[in-house]
Amino acid sequence: MKKRIGVLLSGRGSNFDALAEGAASGLIPNAEIAIVISNREGAPGIEKAQSRRIETCVIPSRGLEREAYDKLVIAALQEKRVDLVCLAGYMRLLSPAFVRAFPNRILNIHPSLLPAFPGLEAQRQALEHGAKFSGCTVHFVDENLDAGPIILQATVPIEDSDTPETLSARILREEHRIYAEAVSIVLAGRYRIEGRRVLTSLEKK
Ligand code: GRF
Repeated sequence: MKKRIGVLLSGRGSNFDALAEGAASGLIPNAEIAIVISNREGAPGIEKAQSRRIETCVIPSRGLEREAYDKLVIAALQEKRVDLVCLAGYMRLLSPAFVRAFPNRILNIHPSLLPAFPGLEAQRQALEHGAKFSGCTVHFVDENLDAGPIILQATVPIEDSDTPETLSARILREEHRIYAEAVSIVLAGRYRIEGRRVLTSLEKK
């Protein structure tokens, strides 16, 4: 049976699209996106999912406490029997209850080489700091912001002429590539976690 992925997003959805394309093309073997959930109405990522005929669900967060909101999202993911949750530009911190509901089964993509530059506008942070390289990170999600064990990273050079926009575009290409690769590794169980280290192997279990 195909492994079922649930994607959470709040905006553009290009990482969702890369995962959907990866699953459709077999780059991510034996997997499908079972549902795309957004906390924001009108998120372009929802339209992208609809045009791929993938089930979508908007759960607005306004007025709800974090735990109460997360319960709704957990229920929607469980109803779809998802094996893996992928955050793809999802602009909310997960509650501990959410993390416990999917132990080592939630991934995030972040546009910097963590632990450098967590949080918002990571590409601008790297540029303004004067870093010569930045990149992106796929990591397991815990209750802390951009903090869980790192699965894959890719580096991207920072050019003198870069703006946050040009750097973001260069990083984004790498995001799409390593997110699909990391999802393949995790779904195939080709990794083990030792402390904070995620050790990946080429052979399938
Ligand atoms: C990406 O840069 C991702 O790393 C960050 O939010 C952005 C989402 O972009 N977490 P998109 O919605 O996937 O196009």
